Amino acid sequence: MSDLSADIDKVLISEKEIRRRVGELAAQVQSDFPGRDLVVVGLLTGTLMFLADLVRELDLPLRLDFIGVSSYGDGTESRELVFTKELKLDVAGRDVLLVDDILDTGKTLRAVINKLGEMNPRQVRSCVLLSKKARREYDIIADYVGFEIPNEFVVGYGLDYAEKYRNLPHIGVLKPELYS
Ligand code: IMP
Ligand code: MG
Repeated sequence: MSDLSADIDKVLISEKEIRRRVGELAAQVQSDFPGRDLVVVGLLTGTLMFLADLVRELDLPLRLDFIGVSSYGDGTESRELVFTKELKLDVAGRDVLLVDDILDTGKTLRAVINKLGEMNPRQVRSCVLLSKKARREYDIIADYVGFEIPNEFVVGYGLDYAEKYRNLPHIGVLKPELYS
């Protein structure tokens, strides 16, 4: 067993399950934005794998951009939000698909949706790979949700703990003794 996967308590979502579900999400997006000039906005850095897999399933003339937002701190609790990269493309009058790795309290998605809204897009829809309903503090729902997961801290497939574990190919629950 490698050093990295030795830190994982259990695999919550396998590579195969991720691939199947991402295909389903892409099919939904594809039918909701037929032939549209879509701007897909990924949030750095956790959406890396998800975004790459999702857009390759979309046969649409889309453009890609990124917003950097960090919840400052390397723990498991989100704190003050800081924007670390601004959008480069003009989204005025465009359809925007905002992609994030996980919807937890809802603070990040709410802040980014509000920010995008000020740029006068035609519409903003949001897509998250994971959602932890039990943790929600802000009244926000995503239009596309890959998996509802229990209230456990997960890593892999882009998601990190203290910037590590993003390169695990599956989504796993981190051994609690590693962060408590
Ligand atoms: P929110 O603002 O509380 O909804 O938190 C969203 C952000 O917190 C996500 O974009 C992730 O970067 C991070 N996050 C929340 N839960 C987890 C988790 O279980 N593993 C890794 N990152 C998480
Ligand atoms: Mg993150």
